[in-house]
Amino acid sequence: MVIVYQSHTGFTKEYAQMLGKAEKIKTYTLDEAAHQLLSGTQIFYMGPLTAGHIGGLDRAMKRYQVQGVCGVGMSMPGESTMASLRRSNYVGDAPLFYLQGGWAPKKVGWLKCRMVNMVTRSTRKALEAKGSARTPQEQAMLDMLLHGGSFVAFENLEPIRAWLKSQG
Ligand SMILES: Cc1cc2nc3c(=O)[nH]c(=O)nc-3n(C[C@H](O)[C@H](O)[C@H](O)COP(=O)(O)O)c2cc1C
Repeated sequence: MVIVYQSHTGFTKEYAQMLGKAEKIKTYTLDEAAHQLLSGTQIFYMGPLTAGHIGGLDRAMKRYQVQGVCGVGMSMPGESTMASLRRSNYVGDAPLFYLQGGWAPKKVGWLKCRMVNMVTRSTRKALEAKGSARTPQEQAMLDMLLHGGSFVAFENLEPIRAWLKSQG
């Protein structure tokens, strides 16, 4: 199995490369894969979330045997994030994972930046309203929404690494 990924602002790329290095698996961008991999190759696909959709997933599902999928977004990990990920992305029988990447407003065009700011407004307002009652995790989330930031961490890869190992 190899890793194929797409990344606009670098967070998914970081995770893909960390995972590839840790598990000694080759990584390809979706564009590289189009030239270098045969269709039907078994892959683990990783892509960034845009309005709930995992970027590049449809392309990957058409061309490769997708054994597992991971969406990378800015949302906090948890059951509601997983539920919406499952609702908005068709992955067949493949297991679906989620990793929290980050938010890089300076690397995103102004229109997309405005869209994201509109969508996250209520979350920002709710977190701001909590004031000093914010947990450290909520504070980190608010800082990221306001200024950008990264939640990329090697430990987050653990469930995916365990699954990859179980695949032999
Ligand atoms: C237009 C747009 C829509 C987005 N929609 C979502 C979303 O629905 N859910 C989410 O968790 N993150 C969303 N994000 C945040 C990105 O998924 C997040 O920044 C991710 O880490 C980007 O990965 P990348 O750096 O590999 O491109 C959105 C970002 C943009 C620019």
